[in-house]
Amino acid sequence: MKIKTIKDKNYKGKKVFLRVDYNVPIEKGVIVDDTRIKATIPTIEYLLSQSASLIIASHLGRPKGKVVDEFSLKPVGERLSKILNKEVKFVSDCIGDEVKNMVNSLKEGEILLLENLRFHPEEEEGDEDFAKGLASLADCYVNDAFGTCHREHASIYTITKFTKDVAAGFLIEKEVSALLKLLLNPEKPFLLILGGAKVSDKIAMIKNLLDKVDTIITGGVMAYTFIKAKNWEVGDSKVDQEAVGLAKEIIKEINKRHLEFHTPLDHVIVQKVSEDAVPIITERGTVPHGWIGVDIGPQAIEEYTDCIRRAKTIFWNGPMGIYEIEKFARGTIEIAKAIGNSNAYSVIGGGDSIAAVNKAQVSDKISHICTGGGASLEFLEKGTLPGIEVLKEE
Ligand code: 3PG
Repeated sequence: MKIKTIKDKNYKGKKVFLRVDYNVPIEKGVIVDDTRIKATIPTIEYLLSQSASLIIASHLGRPKGKVVDEFSLKPVGERLSKILNKEVKFVSDCIGDEVKNMVNSLKEGEILLLENLRFHPEEEEGDEDFAKGLASLADCYVNDAFGTCHREHASIYTITKFTKDVAAGFLIEKEVSALLKLLLNPEKPFLLILGGAKVSDKIAMIKNLLDKVDTIITGGVMAYTFIKAKNWEVGDSKVDQEAVGLAKEIIKEINKRHLEFHTPLDHVIVQKVSEDAVPIITERGTVPHGWIGVDIGPQAIEEYTDCIRRAKTIFWNGPMGIYEIEKFARGTIEIAKAIGNSNAYSVIGGGDSIAAVNKAQVSDKISHICTGGGASLEFLEKGTLPGIEVLKEE
């Protein structure tokens, strides 16, 4: 796959519309993780070094086409300015006369951050007039919003119909090459670790990877959904009922291919999900009614750590349990540590898994950390994304 990149182009004196994914977690007005902002700095610095002026655009959250103050990008602009040690101008809309005036007065090497694109419903609708309006602000378009490339939105997809000069930033280039390495020539054994709660979103991806992976290990709601599909007892643990049928089909396919497939041998269970719950350990298939699985147990940790030690390629998405509660975080943290200690080529996608490797202090030992959860899964399922297709060389 050959995509157009900023390295092949000249941005001297040009106005660049730079789409980024600054959809960062903000709690009470404070950014709690700025990984996605930092990930775009190489592209920003490169474009500035070429004397371009930058019009940066992003979405934040899901404001559903309305102005919602808590989803304003203003604090993001302040953090970006701090990281770059440079002024970042801010305009309280992303389209219209005020934006045009600010863009017209932008000088070489200056940065203007636009307000949240999703304050307009046209962004998510992929509206052509809206996309044309965004495109008209600049001479060229650069996309470095890997985390949003699975969306056919106006600023990701439609805009490329109205800009001749389009290219991918360094982040997209890096993400695509890391994920292609998994799809095209993974060193064997290839281990897939899947946890978390959004089972329906991930299960289609497993199907596509069955011909590539050797071992699959599961945790969280993903594991309980497979356990349920095998008709074993899960007590009151959370199961994705809609995905049970597909999980049954996947088990058949796994058996046909003689792949190594694991659900946790044991579980940490509680009667109530809370900080003061008193957890006990139980074997797989023996979770009593009234009890909920919240983490993998010690035998499962041992077995999974062994799978990780044997793997040469690893992809991990989703925690092993309710890791946000300290008492139930052990399984997820031990998995993160084991991946950190392995010599395998390791790729991690999804906000929760990233938070876990940060918490386990092993993020610098991971080969590649994806900034896009949904985007990385869809890329592994389909081998491309709508926002990447429009950046391809003809
Ligand atoms: C993400 O966080 O996965 C991206 O920013 C895309 O956000 P979305 O799922 O709201 O489209």
